[in-house]
Amino acid sequence: MTTAETKQSSKLREQIRQVLNSQRQPTVTVLSSLLAVQDSIHHLPDEAIRETATFCGSTINEVWSVASFYTNFRFTPPGEKTLDVCWGPSCHILGAQEILNSVHAALELNEEGESPDGKVTLSYNTCLGACAQGPCIAIDHHLIGRQTPESAAKIARELRGLDG
Ligand code: FES
Repeated sequence: MTTAETKQSSKLREQIRQVLNSQRQPTVTVLSSLLAVQDSIHHLPDEAIRETATFCGSTINEVWSVASFYTNFRFTPPGEKTLDVCWGPSCHILGAQEILNSVHAALELNEEGESPDGKVTLSYNTCLGACAQGPCIAIDHHLIGRQTPESAAKIARELRGLDG
């Protein structure tokens, strides 16, 4: 690890300790601690697992078993923007698969995850709650309905700072 990386890791550990110590609910658990850290820094790096173990008096294995059990925890930083594509039943009937194909191509992905430039996190959603407006996508949780493969790809490219 370089000096810069060591400094960055130390700063991150300090930030995580502050988050852990700022929990105000009456019962603080490994789960509440991990949730607090992810709310703050949007993922759980190795430092979060270690600091949570120390804070809760648990082992790293115990903390890891909680973190890995819940699919909502992520262990790598998210992209700068999130793009959800709905593939629920209504959107599926209205063409969600074609939307998904065009978004995959625009983001250079074959599945959920971060675009190679780290700008966009793609997630699949089973219903964005606006079936009548399908097919739907959402950018940073803001819904956009009545998508076509072309419009969704244009949005995805724009999120990456590429020409629509
Ligand atoms: S199924 Fe897509 S918004 Fe409900």
